[in-house]
Amino acid sequence: MPAKVFSIANQKGGVGKTTTSINLAAALADLGLKVVLIDMDPQGNATSALGLKFSEGSSVYGPLCGDGKLEDKVKDISSHKNLSIIPSEMDLAAIEIELAQRENYLLQLKKLVDAFKKSTDFDVIILDCPPALGMLSMNSLVAADYLIIALQAEYMAMEGLGQILKVLDSLKESSVNPNLALGGILMTLFDRRVNLAHEVVSEVRKHFSEIVFRTTIPRSIRLSEAPSYGQSIFQYDPNCSGAYAYRYFAEEFIDRFDLKNA
Ligand SMILES: Nc1ncnc2c1ncn2[C@@H]1O[C@H](COP(=O)(O)OP(=O)(O)OP(=O)(O)O)[C@@H](O)[C@H]1O
Ligand SMILES: [Mg+2]
Repeated sequence: MPAKVFSIANQKGGVGKTTTSINLAAALADLGLKVVLIDMDPQGNATSALGLKFSEGSSVYGPLCGDGKLEDKVKDISSHKNLSIIPSEMDLAAIEIELAQRENYLLQLKKLVDAFKKSTDFDVIILDCPPALGMLSMNSLVAADYLIIALQAEYMAMEGLGQILKVLDSLKESSVNPNLALGGILMTLFDRRVNLAHEVVSEVRKHFSEIVFRTTIPRSIRLSEAPSYGQSIFQYDPNCSGAYAYRYFAEEFIDRFDLKNA
Protein backbone atom coordinates (compact mmCIF):
# COMPACT_ATOMS: atom_id res chain seq x y z
CA MET A 1 0.00 0.00 0.00
CA PRO A 2 1.32 3.45 -0.82
CA ALA A 3 1.96 5.90 2.00
CA LYS A 4 -0.92 8.04 3.17
CA VAL A 5 -0.13 11.75 3.20
CA PHE A 6 -1.37 14.09 5.92
CA SER A 7 -1.02 17.85 5.93
CA ILE A 8 -1.16 19.43 9.40
CA ALA A 9 -2.30 22.96 8.75
CA ASN A 10 -3.92 26.13 9.99
CA GLN A 11 -2.93 29.58 8.81
CA LYS A 12 -3.19 30.76 12.40
CA GLY A 13 0.16 30.73 14.19
CA GLY A 14 0.99 28.97 17.43
CA VAL A 15 -1.96 26.58 17.52
CA GLY A 16 0.06 23.38 17.95
CA LYS A 17 0.68 22.28 14.35
CA THR A 18 4.34 21.48 14.90
CA THR A 19 3.86 19.97 18.35
CA THR A 20 1.23 17.72 16.81
CA SER A 21 3.33 16.87 13.75
CA ILE A 22 6.35 15.71 15.73
CA ASN A 23 4.55 13.89 18.50
CA LEU A 24 2.02 12.23 16.22
CA ALA A 25 4.88 11.15 13.96
CA ALA A 26 6.84 9.80 16.93
CA ALA A 27 3.82 8.01 18.41
CA LEU A 28 2.93 6.36 15.10
CA ALA A 29 6.56 5.29 14.71
CA ASP A 30 6.51 3.80 18.22
CA LEU A 31 3.40 1.86 17.22
CA GLY A 32 5.35 0.27 14.40
CA LEU A 33 4.51 2.42 11.38
CA LYS A 34 7.27 3.75 9.19
CA VAL A 35 6.87 7.53 9.28
CA VAL A 36 8.52 10.48 7.58
CA LEU A 37 7.86 14.02 8.68
CA ILE A 38 8.45 16.73 6.08
CA ASP A 39 9.16 20.13 7.59
CA MET A 40 7.50 22.58 5.19
CA ASP A 41 8.01 25.59 7.46
CA PRO A 42 11.04 27.88 6.91
CA GLN A 43 10.97 28.49 10.69
CA GLY A 44 12.12 24.88 10.96
CA ASN A 45 10.57 24.25 14.36
CA ALA A 46 9.93 20.57 13.66
CA THR A 47 13.52 20.16 12.48
CA SER A 48 15.03 21.60 15.64
CA ALA A 49 12.43 19.93 17.88
CA LEU A 50 13.71 16.57 16.65
CA GLY A 51 17.28 17.58 17.40
CA LEU A 52 18.50 18.43 13.89
CA LYS A 53 20.53 21.47 12.90
CA PHE A 54 19.70 23.51 9.82
CA SER A 55 22.02 22.77 6.96
CA GLU A 56 22.07 24.09 3.44
CA GLY A 57 20.63 21.83 0.78
CA SER A 58 18.86 19.56 3.24
CA SER A 59 15.24 20.55 2.65
CA VAL A 60 12.58 20.20 -0.04
CA TYR A 61 13.83 23.48 -1.48
CA GLY A 62 16.21 21.93 -4.02
CA PRO A 63 13.74 19.33 -5.29
CA LEU A 64 11.00 21.96 -5.51
CA CYS A 65 13.34 23.99 -7.73
CA GLY A 66 13.92 20.96 -9.95
CA ASP A 67 17.18 19.95 -8.31
CA GLY A 68 17.17 16.42 -6.87
CA LYS A 69 14.59 14.11 -5.33
CA LEU A 70 12.90 13.93 -1.94
CA GLU A 71 14.40 10.47 -1.46
CA ASP A 72 17.86 12.05 -1.16
CA LYS A 73 16.79 14.41 1.62
CA VAL A 74 15.49 11.88 4.14
CA LYS A 75 17.34 11.72 7.44
CA ASP A 76 16.66 9.00 9.98
CA ILE A 77 16.17 10.14 13.55
CA SER A 78 18.79 7.95 15.17
CA SER A 79 17.19 8.03 18.61
CA HIS A 80 13.80 7.06 17.23
CA LYS A 81 13.14 3.80 15.41
CA ASN A 82 10.91 4.05 12.31
CA LEU A 83 11.02 7.86 12.31
CA SER A 84 12.62 9.98 9.59
CA ILE A 85 12.51 13.63 8.63
CA ILE A 86 13.12 15.83 5.65
CA PRO A 87 14.36 18.93 7.46
CA SER A 88 13.71 22.57 6.75
CA GLU A 89 16.25 25.26 5.97
CA MET A 90 16.06 29.03 5.89
CA ASP A 91 16.14 29.09 2.08
CA LEU A 92 12.74 27.48 2.03
CA ALA A 93 11.26 30.95 2.55
CA ALA A 94 12.44 31.89 -0.94
CA ILE A 95 10.36 29.17 -2.50
CA GLU A 96 7.31 31.41 -2.30
CA ILE A 97 8.84 33.54 -5.03
CA GLU A 98 10.49 30.72 -6.97
CA LEU A 99 7.29 28.73 -7.26
CA ALA A 100 5.15 31.72 -8.19
CA GLN A 101 7.15 31.98 -11.41
CA ARG A 102 6.57 28.38 -12.42
CA GLU A 103 3.86 26.83 -14.44
CA ASN A 104 1.64 24.48 -12.44
CA TYR A 105 3.15 25.93 -9.31
CA LEU A 106 0.57 24.20 -7.10
CA LEU A 107 1.56 20.76 -8.34
CA GLN A 108 5.30 20.82 -7.73
CA LEU A 109 5.35 19.14 -4.33
CA LYS A 110 2.68 16.63 -5.35
CA LYS A 111 4.85 15.42 -8.25
CA LEU A 112 7.77 14.90 -5.89
CA VAL A 113 5.67 13.21 -3.21
CA ASP A 114 4.03 10.86 -5.70
CA ALA A 115 7.45 9.72 -6.95
CA PHE A 116 8.68 9.46 -3.35
CA LYS A 117 5.75 7.20 -2.41
CA LYS A 118 6.62 4.86 -5.25
CA SER A 119 10.29 4.52 -4.42
CA THR A 120 10.11 4.29 -0.61
CA ASP A 121 8.23 2.08 1.83
CA PHE A 122 6.90 4.63 4.30
CA ASP A 123 3.41 4.05 5.69
CA VAL A 124 2.77 7.65 6.64
CA ILE A 125 3.98 11.03 5.39
CA ILE A 126 3.26 14.02 7.62
CA LEU A 127 3.66 17.57 6.31
CA ASP A 128 4.10 20.28 8.95
CA CYS A 129 2.80 23.48 7.34
CA PRO A 130 3.77 27.08 8.10
CA PRO A 131 1.23 29.53 9.56
CA ALA A 132 0.07 30.98 6.25
CA LEU A 133 -1.87 29.80 3.25
CA GLY A 134 1.00 30.63 0.88
CA MET A 135 2.80 28.46 -1.66
CA LEU A 136 4.23 26.03 0.89
CA SER A 137 0.93 25.25 2.59
CA MET A 138 -0.93 25.16 -0.71
CA ASN A 139 1.60 22.76 -2.20
CA SER A 140 1.32 20.64 0.94
CA LEU A 141 -2.45 20.48 0.63
CA VAL A 142 -2.25 19.54 -3.02
CA ALA A 143 0.23 16.76 -2.20
CA ALA A 144 -1.92 15.41 0.66
CA ASP A 145 -4.68 12.85 0.94
CA TYR A 146 -5.97 14.42 4.15
CA LEU A 147 -5.99 17.83 5.77
CA ILE A 148 -5.66 17.73 9.55
CA ILE A 149 -6.50 21.02 11.22
CA ALA A 150 -4.96 21.83 14.60
CA LEU A 151 -7.33 24.11 16.47
CA GLN A 152 -6.53 25.83 19.73
CA ALA A 153 -9.29 25.45 22.31
CA GLU A 154 -9.65 29.13 23.11
CA TYR A 155 -11.84 32.13 22.44
CA MET A 156 -12.43 32.70 18.70
CA ALA A 157 -11.00 29.27 17.87
CA MET A 158 -13.19 28.93 14.81
CA GLU A 159 -12.26 32.38 13.53
CA GLY A 160 -10.30 31.89 10.33
CA LEU A 161 -11.43 28.29 9.99
CA GLY A 162 -13.73 29.35 7.16
CA GLN A 163 -10.73 30.45 5.16
CA ILE A 164 -8.89 27.14 5.24
CA LEU A 165 -12.12 25.21 4.62
CA LYS A 166 -12.74 27.38 1.57
CA VAL A 167 -9.26 26.52 0.28
CA LEU A 168 -10.03 22.84 0.87
CA ASP A 169 -13.25 23.13 -1.12
CA SER A 170 -11.64 24.94 -4.00
CA LEU A 171 -8.83 22.37 -4.25
CA LYS A 172 -11.38 19.56 -4.14
CA GLU A 173 -13.58 21.13 -6.77
CA SER A 174 -10.68 21.92 -9.08
CA SER A 175 -8.66 19.29 -10.86
CA VAL A 176 -5.69 20.15 -8.65
CA ASN A 177 -6.54 17.72 -5.85
CA PRO A 178 -10.07 16.33 -6.10
CA ASN A 179 -9.18 13.59 -3.59
CA LEU A 180 -8.25 15.85 -0.72
CA ALA A 181 -10.43 15.20 2.32
CA LEU A 182 -10.81 16.87 5.68
CA GLY A 183 -9.26 14.15 7.81
CA GLY A 184 -10.10 15.73 11.11
CA ILE A 185 -9.88 18.61 13.53
CA LEU A 186 -7.66 18.20 16.58
CA MET A 187 -8.37 20.42 19.56
CA THR A 188 -5.07 21.49 21.14
CA LEU A 189 -3.77 23.49 24.08
CA PHE A 190 -6.87 22.60 26.08
CA ASP A 191 -6.85 24.01 29.60
CA ARG A 192 -9.45 22.04 31.53
CA ARG A 193 -9.49 24.53 34.40
CA VAL A 194 -10.86 27.20 32.10
CA ASN A 195 -14.63 27.10 31.58
CA LEU A 196 -14.42 28.81 28.24
CA ALA A 197 -12.13 26.08 26.91
CA HIS A 198 -14.87 23.49 27.60
CA GLU A 199 -17.42 25.70 25.87
CA VAL A 200 -15.19 26.12 22.85
CA VAL A 201 -14.61 22.38 22.51
CA SER A 202 -18.33 21.60 22.74
CA GLU A 203 -19.16 24.32 20.23
CA VAL A 204 -16.62 22.98 17.74
CA ARG A 205 -17.99 19.46 18.26
CA LYS A 206 -21.53 20.72 17.71
CA HIS A 207 -20.47 22.25 14.39
CA PHE A 208 -18.20 19.53 13.07
CA SER A 209 -19.41 16.47 15.01
CA GLU A 210 -17.33 13.35 14.38
CA ILE A 211 -14.83 15.22 12.19
CA VAL A 212 -13.38 16.42 15.50
CA PHE A 213 -11.05 13.80 16.98
CA ARG A 214 -12.18 12.28 20.28
CA THR A 215 -8.75 13.03 21.69
CA THR A 216 -8.13 16.55 22.95
CA ILE A 217 -4.56 17.64 23.62
CA PRO A 218 -4.16 19.28 27.04
CA ARG A 219 -2.00 22.28 27.68
CA SER A 220 1.13 20.76 29.22
CA ILE A 221 4.34 22.48 30.19
CA ARG A 222 6.25 19.29 29.32
CA LEU A 223 5.07 19.50 25.71
CA SER A 224 6.46 23.01 25.44
CA GLU A 225 9.76 22.04 27.08
CA ALA A 226 10.56 18.95 25.00
CA PRO A 227 11.54 20.79 21.75
CA SER A 228 14.40 22.63 23.42
CA TYR A 229 15.93 19.23 24.22
CA GLY A 230 15.48 18.08 20.64
CA GLN A 231 13.20 15.30 21.86
CA SER A 232 9.70 14.06 21.24
CA ILE A 233 7.47 13.99 24.30
CA PHE A 234 7.97 10.21 24.49
CA GLN A 235 11.67 10.63 24.98
CA TYR A 236 11.44 13.69 27.19
CA ASP A 237 8.68 12.59 29.59
CA PRO A 238 6.79 9.50 28.46
CA ASN A 239 4.47 9.58 31.48
CA CYS A 240 3.19 13.16 31.35
CA SER A 241 -0.35 14.06 30.31
CA GLY A 242 0.86 15.34 26.93
CA ALA A 243 2.52 12.01 26.11
CA TYR A 244 -0.64 10.09 27.03
CA ALA A 245 -2.74 12.42 24.90
CA TYR A 246 -0.55 12.07 21.82
CA ARG A 247 -0.41 8.29 22.29
CA TYR A 248 -4.23 8.15 22.42
CA PHE A 249 -4.36 10.43 19.43
CA ALA A 250 -2.05 8.17 17.45
CA GLU A 251 -4.25 5.17 18.24
CA GLU A 252 -7.36 7.06 17.19
CA PHE A 253 -5.51 8.18 14.07
CA ILE A 254 -4.55 4.62 13.14
CA ASP A 255 -8.19 3.53 13.52
CA ARG A 256 -9.63 6.42 11.61
CA PHE A 257 -7.30 6.05 8.64
CA ASP A 258 -6.97 2.30 8.74
CA LEU A 259 -3.20 2.52 9.02
CA LYS A 260 -2.52 -0.78 10.74
CA ASN A 261 -3.33 -2.70 7.60
CA ALA A 262 -0.75 -0.68 5.74
N1 LIG B 1 -0.39 21.17 24.29
C1 LIG B 1 0.51 22.10 24.54
N2 LIG B 1 0.80 22.46 25.81
C2 LIG B 1 1.70 23.43 26.07
N3 LIG B 1 2.38 24.10 25.14
C3 LIG B 1 2.14 23.79 23.86
C4 LIG B 1 1.21 22.78 23.48
N4 LIG B 1 1.18 22.71 22.13
C5 LIG B 1 2.04 23.62 21.69
N5 LIG B 1 2.64 24.28 22.71
C6 LIG B 1 3.60 25.36 22.65
O1 LIG B 1 2.97 26.45 22.02
C7 LIG B 1 3.83 27.06 21.08
C8 LIG B 1 3.22 26.93 19.67
O2 LIG B 1 3.11 25.55 19.36
P1 LIG B 1 3.53 24.99 17.94
O3 LIG B 1 4.88 25.46 17.56
O4 LIG B 1 3.29 23.53 17.95
O5 LIG B 1 2.43 25.71 17.06
P2 LIG B 1 2.42 25.95 15.50
O6 LIG B 1 0.99 26.02 15.10
O7 LIG B 1 3.27 24.95 14.82
O8 LIG B 1 3.11 27.38 15.40
P3 LIG B 1 3.55 28.10 14.02
O9 LIG B 1 2.25 28.61 13.47
O10 LIG B 1 4.47 29.19 14.46
O11 LIG B 1 4.18 27.08 13.14
C9 LIG B 1 5.16 26.35 21.21
O12 LIG B 1 5.95 27.06 22.10
C10 LIG B 1 4.78 24.99 21.78
O13 LIG B 1 5.82 24.43 22.54
MG1 LIG C 1 4.82 25.24 13.44
